[in-house]
Amino acid sequence: MAFNHKHLIDITEYSDTDIMTILETAKAFSEVNERAIKKVPTLKGKTVVNMFNEPSTRTRSSFELAEKRLSADSLNFGGSSTSTVKGESLIDTVMTLNAYKIDMIIIRDKHAGAPYIVTQNSPAHVIDAGDGKHGHPTQALLDLYSIWERKGSFDGLKVGIVGDIGHSRVCGSLIPALKIMGAEVTVVAPGTLLPARPDVLGADHVSYSLDDVLPELDVVYMLRIQRERLEGAPFPSLREYHELFGLTKKRERLMKPDAIICHPGPINRGVEFDSYMADHPERSVILDQVYAGICVRMAALYLLLGGADNGLSA
Ligand code: CP
Repeated sequence: MAFNHKHLIDITEYSDTDIMTILETAKAFSEVNERAIKKVPTLKGKTVVNMFNEPSTRTRSSFELAEKRLSADSLNFGGSSTSTVKGESLIDTVMTLNAYKIDMIIIRDKHAGAPYIVTQNSPAHVIDAGDGKHGHPTQALLDLYSIWERKGSFDGLKVGIVGDIGHSRVCGSLIPALKIMGAEVTVVAPGTLLPARPDVLGADHVSYSLDDVLPELDVVYMLRIQRERLEGAPFPSLREYHELFGLTKKRERLMKPDAIICHPGPINRGVEFDSYMADHPERSVILDQVYAGICVRMAALYLLLGGADNGLSA
């Protein structure tokens, strides 16, 4: 099995075969996560730095768990606890880490392009754990895994991504990933939450009405309104947004009987959906996505760090 990637930053550098390799490897690691003793020696002796310069619950905890379950050594690091608050630059920080002979840097940062800068200043493998509004490739991969588990295939699958498209780094990776795998993608949002040029997103369709598109969708992927990236109050207001774009019990009648609901988290109940839909026992796969996060991140660590036939890290 050839897997000739050094970094996981730009999902468009990955083919459908590469993505299926990650999903199938994640499926194999799912078995490890079901065991009583959830640990294998696969990455013993490898050192992985988790550099989180922005808050995270799911991405950070699942990367750390994935590393521990593969027996890698983890160094958790970043944000206001580092010497960046004393003026040290990202590049000098990375050069300091290089001196420890680390194998991988996983970085979350508010600046789009930060993971790429790390690749230019370190011999280590780099995974983008979310950079500004740009990308979040492991989120896209765990989303694909969760959809694949429920739907079996991506071919012709109709996926609607609903909400704050303009500020979403998830969209930056998820839309191209879904297109690579053969799905049909519609973005659904008020104009104020779309980028100025929605066509650059690469989606097949743009819609301004959830009610219009809901009956067609196999997967309804809801997004949080990223108030931390908005200047001023959201428009429409959160109440109006919930009225027009919230996935509510009342709207369920418009959905296909087997349509599923995804969300990358964190969720805002009462805004992008009500609790009935967020916790829907048949439709909501939100906690399956969280679980998929460990399996997919184990697969990415294993494949990038030379677990397979990866000559790059031999
Ligand atoms: N989906 C996601 O990236 O969640 P966290 O911000 O909690 O990591």
